Amino acid sequence: MKNTYTIIKSKQTITVNFDTKKPRLGYDSLDMSTLRTQHKYNSWDPGLKNTAVFESKICYIDGDKGLLTYRGYRIEDLVEHSNFMETTYILLHGHKPKTNELTDFTTKINLHQHRIPNDIITLLAHQSKQSDPTGILLSLMGAIASHMDTLNLKQTNPISSCLPIISIMPTLVANIIRHIQGKSWQSPHADLSFIDNFLYCLNGKKPSEDETFIMDKLCIVQAEHELNASTHNVRATTSTGANLGAALCAGIASLWGPAHGGANQACYDMLLKIGSIDQIPKYIAKAKNKKDPFRLMGFGHRIYRNTDPRAKIFQKMNLNFLKHKHDHDLFSLAIALKDTALSDPYFVDRKLYPNTDFFSGILFHTLGIPSSAFPTLFVMARTVGWCAHWLEMQENPNYPIIRPQQFYTGSKTQNFHTQTKDYKE
Ligand code: ACO
Repeated sequence: MKNTYTIIKSKQTITVNFDTKKPRLGYDSLDMSTLRTQHKYNSWDPGLKNTAVFESKICYIDGDKGLLTYRGYRIEDLVEHSNFMETTYILLHGHKPKTNELTDFTTKINLHQHRIPNDIITLLAHQSKQSDPTGILLSLMGAIASHMDTLNLKQTNPISSCLPIISIMPTLVANIIRHIQGKSWQSPHADLSFIDNFLYCLNGKKPSEDETFIMDKLCIVQAEHELNASTHNVRATTSTGANLGAALCAGIASLWGPAHGGANQACYDMLLKIGSIDQIPKYIAKAKNKKDPFRLMGFGHRIYRNTDPRAKIFQKMNLNFLKHKHDHDLFSLAIALKDTALSDPYFVDRKLYPNTDFFSGILFHTLGIPSSAFPTLFVMARTVGWCAHWLEMQENPNYPIIRPQQFYTGSKTQNFHTQTKDYKE
């Protein structure tokens, strides 16, 4: 279907026609691919808030309804009826595995867990214990990216090249946390699965059923979330022909920021800073004050404008699983903060609700993880989603490099020697 629009350019009226692209779900898109070549216009869209740049079959979010699906399966169903390994299979392959397919897949993942190259272990040992864990993970992933061939992590087909990297993430992340805590390297246990091995490497002992359950559900919920900042950057890096490790570095770097995956740490630290329920009004006022850089962390989302289903899942898990008084107190504070914000017109009018990071930090803490490492846990799970997007891009190797236009506001050309202008005002 053609859509006709009029643009007024130098008092002249120009008619432009855009085709409409219809997705399976979600808003139609205007195909603007001729806007620049035919009409010499760019579209202006700060933050790419209104721009679709990729076709994808992996994840769908309806922000008004609070709906999140992976390959068509609702997140609530995956959390209740699936586990992280099956969800990983679904995200990478696009369908639910048969029993033997899942067994085969899990065996491959478990096999690779032990294949951490020695130079990666050495590199970790040389990191400062004061370093930020996400920065360390970025360094290690950079090293992995630079040795994809020699470290034997490059495999014969696209899916199998993802498996070694997904497999080693629990061991890497757990050992980064051990490193900053001054503990020695812990190798994974041959009989343990992905999630249990993360907890085993972290604590040096087999986890309880509750710990496994919490970690498994946290990973399912954080595995994928369509074209957020980090996934977009993974895809943009992939579009340059860079290898998977390099693309994952782009993902880790952008997830690190407090407006994105670093919000779990920022939110937990904010709750600690608020400290008690009587301090909530002071912090709500700060969040509303446009001259104050403080934002309510774990609140607001580009897409969810009603409810974030992930926050609901984590709120329920907090209710069921928190053990220590400290975590209970922090959870009560979080609930009071949420209720105060949601009864304030500032947050209601702007449709700001708790997001995935509002409650996840308290769960991470109950597993004994320091808040500085929360984003690395997010990376561990999200590596699966990033790999799914990397795989989808391998299906279309001719996809154009991601290269947006700018809106230039700098100097016009001027003579370098005389500094005179080369143009008339
Ligand atoms: N606290 C106070 N005000 C907020 C918040 C917040 N957490 N979030 C948004 N707002 C305000 C903005 O200042 C803006 O106000 P204005 O209309 O008066 O200018 C309005 O709400 C709209 O916000 P935007 O900035 O347009 O929202 P955007 O979609 O660009 O950003 C984001 C979304 C980055 C998540 C933002 O809400 C935020 O910074 N939240 C806190 C950080 C956070 O929790 N990030 C995790 C997101 S989930 C994830 O990435 C895993």
